[in-house]
Amino acid sequence: MSAVLKSIGIVGAGQMGCGIAHVSAAAGYKVHIYDLNQERIESGLATIHGNLARQVANGKMTEEERKATLALISGSTDLNDFAPMDLVVEAATEDETVKKKIYTLVCPVLKPDAILATNTSSLSITRLAAATDRPERFMGIHFMNPVPVMKLVELVRGIATDEPTFEAAKAYVASLDKTATVAEDFPAFIVNRILLPMINEAIYTLYEGVGSVDAIDTAMRLGANHPMGPLQLADFIGLDTCLSIMQVLHDGLADSKYRPCPLLVKYVEAGWLGRKSGRGFYDYRGEVPVPTR
Ligand code: CAA
Repeated sequence: MSAVLKSIGIVGAGQMGCGIAHVSAAAGYKVHIYDLNQERIESGLATIHGNLARQVANGKMTEEERKATLALISGSTDLNDFAPMDLVVEAATEDETVKKKIYTLVCPVLKPDAILATNTSSLSITRLAAATDRPERFMGIHFMNPVPVMKLVELVRGIATDEPTFEAAKAYVASLDKTATVAEDFPAFIVNRILLPMINEAIYTLYEGVGSVDAIDTAMRLGANHPMGPLQLADFIGLDTCLSIMQVLHDGLADSKYRPCPLLVKYVEAGWLGRKSGRGFYDYRGEVPVPTR
């Protein structure tokens, strides 16, 4: 394995993949983003442009640094472009079948000593690693949304992850000026094991009529000093992601306290996934977000 990582491949041009690309390029890594179609890549690159411009506007970055960051980022729909990468981070949809399919396509392209990581927010690292040709060089590197702002990254080893891989992942996270916590490979690790049941409880609070969308979010923003209300945060994360995490907790820990709220299921079945689909607990299609209940 190359002692120091220099180039990062990212699978998925969604909000997390582009956030990881943004912070990696800003730290000096050569970054390549892969997605299924060029439109998603262009849209992701536009988001990165916007976030970098915002950092220049508020003095967090110089114009030269912004240009240098952008010069390090490329994107394509060709997985062969991952061949020279030292580390590839999979940031695809939170679906185990999709992730495993990606690994079967990516592994043959990678250098023998390249590390493959996943940004999964809840799935078993050990089980995902078993679907690759390199369980020793497979890690969970779990970023928080929005990646350019959130300081935490969770590091999760599978049962086969070797020490050099763990050390390389730790050094990579430190080089991004982020703080790593180590979680054992159990459902939803630490952050989502605690955060998602709270969000699910907020949805039950709405479902049972204890409070309105506005009352619930205002209560937690002002009553618990949360930067976002739990329903607003659920829309930000994505209701499909929230549901998949609750299902992973419910199935993985076999405790009924993790059963997803029926209202969350209903929203996902309606395609109301939150910000990314324009509508969730709030409707984002107008000037200001409006509660949908
Ligand atoms: N992308 C990138 N940057 C963003 C952003 C986004 N979507 N939203 C806000 N920012 C940046 C702004 O540019 C600003 O940066 P500067 O200080 O450099 O200007 C900074 O964040 C503050 O933004 P705002 O002042 O506009 O808004 P805010 O003060 O309300 O902060 C927030 C926005 C940082 C998102 C804040 O609301 C927050 O921290 N929310 C909670 C987020 C959270 O809990 N994330 C974890 C979810 S769990 C998870 O991610 C794991 C998982 O697997 C699901």
